[in-house]
Amino acid sequence: MVGPQIYSFSLLTFVSFTHWISPLLALQPSAPEPVVAPLRDLKWGQLNFLHTTDTHGWLAGHLQEPSYSADWGDYVSFATRMREKAEAQGQDLLVIDTGDRVEGNGLYDSSEPKGIFISEILRQQHIDVLCAGNHELYKRNTSETEFFTTVPNFRGSYLASNIDIVHPRTTTAVPLAPRFKKFITENQGIRILAFGFLFDFTKNDNNTIVQPVEETVKEYWFQEAIRDEDTDLFLVVGHVPVHSKEYDMIFKAIRAVRWHIPIQFFGGHYHIRDFARYDSKAFGLASGRFMETVGFMSIDGLSTKTQRAIPALSTPSFHRRYIDNNLYSFYHHTGLDQNTFPTEHGQNASRLIQQSRSALQLDKVHGCAPQNYWMSRAKYPSEDSIYTWLEKQVLPDMLRDESRVGMPALAVVNTGAIRFDIFKGPFTQDSTFTVSPFTSGFRYVKSVPYDKAILIVDILNKQPQILTDADAEETYFASGLAPPEHLVYSHGTAPYASLDRNVADYHKKQTPLLSSNNSTPNMVPGYTTIDDGGSDGDDTIHSPISFFRVPNCIQALVSSESPVVPEAVDLVYIDFIQSYVALAAKYAGLDIDFARDTDVYMPSKTFTDLVLDWIKHNWNCTDA
Ligand SMILES: *[C@@H]1O[C@H](CO)[C@@H](O)[C@H](O)[C@H]1NC(C)=O
Ligand SMILES: *[C@@H]1O[C@H](CO)[C@@H](O)[C@H](O)[C@H]1NC(C)=O
Ligand SMILES: *[C@@H]1O[C@H](CO)[C@@H](O)[C@H](O)[C@H]1NC(C)=O
Ligand SMILES: *[C@@H]1O[C@H](CO)[C@@H](O)[C@H](O)[C@H]1NC(C)=O
Ligand SMILES: *[C@@H]1O[C@H](CO)[C@@H](O)[C@H](O)[C@H]1NC(C)=O
Repeated sequence: MVGPQIYSFSLLTFVSFTHWISPLLALQPSAPEPVVAPLRDLKWGQLNFLHTTDTHGWLAGHLQEPSYSADWGDYVSFATRMREKAEAQGQDLLVIDTGDRVEGNGLYDSSEPKGIFISEILRQQHIDVLCAGNHELYKRNTSETEFFTTVPNFRGSYLASNIDIVHPRTTTAVPLAPRFKKFITENQGIRILAFGFLFDFTKNDNNTIVQPVEETVKEYWFQEAIRDEDTDLFLVVGHVPVHSKEYDMIFKAIRAVRWHIPIQFFGGHYHIRDFARYDSKAFGLASGRFMETVGFMSIDGLSTKTQRAIPALSTPSFHRRYIDNNLYSFYHHTGLDQNTFPTEHGQNASRLIQQSRSALQLDKVHGCAPQNYWMSRAKYPSEDSIYTWLEKQVLPDMLRDESRVGMPALAVVNTGAIRFDIFKGPFTQDSTFTVSPFTSGFRYVKSVPYDKAILIVDILNKQPQILTDADAEETYFASGLAPPEHLVYSHGTAPYASLDRNVADYHKKQTPLLSSNNSTPNMVPGYTTIDDGGSDGDDTIHSPISFFRVPNCIQALVSSESPVVPEAVDLVYIDFIQSYVALAAKYAGLDIDFARDTDVYMPSKTFTDLVLDWIKHNWNCTDA
C-alpha cells in the first residue's frame, strides 16, 4: 500500500529541488580527491562481473575518506565503460548486487518515508542479478517497499529463491521475486542459470517467510532447474557469507547432480572482502560494505556459443580483484581520464544524489569532533575508542529518566549499535546516520541488585557457544550484538572453524603480509586482504590498518553518588537487545519476567537522539 504513494511524492520532491542546486559534478562536491596509490591490474576473461554488497545507503560514497570517495553515479559510469571495454574485446560484463541496500546512511534513513531517494538513485545502475538482504526484511514496510518498488524497478534481474512475502492486498504468501532465471550472455553466448538467496535469517517481520536453504535446495523447482542440461555456468548470488553452511549446502546440492559445471557465487553480509574456493570450478566473492569496494571477477575457459567445450574435460580459470571505490582506480582500470570517463547517465545520477543530499540537509553541521573515534582501529578501552567515549562521556552525561530521579542506572549497549567511526572535524547530519542509523530506544528493569546486574555484560561478552540456551530460539546467541564485521568468528564457519577462534585470525583476514616500513611510496592505509586466493586481491596496495576486537556489549554506571557502589540500579538496555539481556539475566541469577516487568526508559528518545544531543552540547566548532 505504501509503494505507489511514495513514488509520486519522491518525484515531486526531485522536481521542486532542481532549480537551486549547484552545477553538475560527477563526484559529490564535498568528497575528497582520490589519492594516487600503486595499483594491481585486472585480468579480463570471457565473462566479467562487477559486484557490490551491503551498500546500506552509502550511495554518495565516503565524504571523509578519499579511498572510497566515488559515488553511485561514478559507479554507473564505471559499469558502462567496463561494459564497453568488454564488448570491444568480444567479452561480457554482468553487474551484481547482493542486498542490504537499505539502512545505515542518512541518504536512506533520514527521508520520510525512508528510502524514497535511494530507490530512485539505485535504479540508475543497470544491474543484471540482485537479491534481498536481511535489512530489507526487518520491517514490514521495508519489505513492502521492496516488493512494490525495487523489485519492479529491477524486473527480470531481482531474484528471491527462498523468500516469500505476504501480499499486502491479497494477504496470501507469494514469492518476493522470481526464484531463478536463465539467460544467455550477449557476446559469448554463455548459458547461465542464476539464483538469489538469503542466509537462514529468522528476525524478519512475520510478513515475509525466509525458507531455510536446506529446504529450498530440496524443492522440486530447484532440483529440476539444476538438472537443465543447457547450462554453462551456475550463478548463485545471495546475501550469504561466502564461507557459510548455506553456501556449502548449495554447492553440494548442485555438485550432487552437476559435478562438472562451473559455479560462481557472490555473497556478503559479513561486511568483509572475502574469496572462497569450493572446488577447482567453484568460487565465491564477497565485496565488503558501504560502497568501499567494487568487486571484480572474471572467468575464462567457459563453454560458449562458438566453443561448446566438453565441461568435464576443461577447467576454467577464475580471477578476483577488490577495487577501491574511487575515481583514481576507476580511471586506471578503464584506461580513461576525467574527460573521457564520465557518462551522461552517470553524471545525472551523481546530480540526483547531490540534490537528494541537499533536500535532506545532510551537510548540516551539528558540531566538530576534536579527534577521531574508532570502532576497531583503536584498542578498547582507550582514549581513541568510540566505545570508551560512549561509556565515559555520552552515557553518563545523557542517560536519565525524569520518573527515576536519584536512582542510579546501569546501561547496557551493544557495540553493534554503532556502525561507523567518527572522524575529526565536522559531525554532520550525515554522520549521525552513518554512526548510529537505528531507531532503537531504551527499556529498563526497576531496581535490580547491583552485584547481579554487573554480571550481565560479562555474560554477554563470553563466547557465544557458552551461552546457547536450550529454551532460546537463538542458536548463536550473542552474534547479533556486535557489528557484522565481527561475526566472522562468532559464526565459526569454515575456514575459521579449523583455527583458534580468536582475534589473531580476524587480523589475518583483514591485515596484511606487507609490513608497513614506508619503503613503498604513496602507500595509504587500507584493506590488505588475505583470502582463499592469496594476498593479491586488493587493487590498491595499501599499508595495513590495525584492527582490534570489540566486546559484544559495553556498560556504563550512571549515578549521581558515584564513586559509591550502589546497592540497586535500574538495569537500562537498548530495546533491540532485550532477548539477549533477558537470557543473560537468567544466567546472572535474576528472576525477571521481561515481558511484564520492563518499561520504556527516556520515552521518545532513541539512542541516536542521545548521542546527537551530547554532540550538540559538547563539540563546538568554533573551539576546534
Ligand atoms: C515505515 O514506517 C515508519 C513508521 O511509520 C516510518 O518512519 C518509515 O519511514 C517507514 N518506512 C518505509 C520504507 O516506508
Ligand atoms: C504478525 O505479527 C503481528 C504483530 O506484529 C500480529 O498481530 C500478527 O498476528 C502476526 N501474524 C502472524 C501470522 O503470526
Ligand atoms: C540527463 O539529464 C538531462 C536533464 O535532466 C536529460 O535531458 C537527459 O536525458 C539525461 N540523460 C540521461 C542519459 O539520462
Ligand atoms: C620494507 O619492505 C620492502 C618491500 O615491502 C622489503 O623488501 C624490505 O625488506 C622491508 N624493509 C624492512 C627494513 O623491513
Ligand atoms: C561555542 O564557543 C563560542 C566561543 O567560545 C561561544 O561564543 C558559543 O556560544 C559556543 N557555542 C555553543 C553552542 O556552545
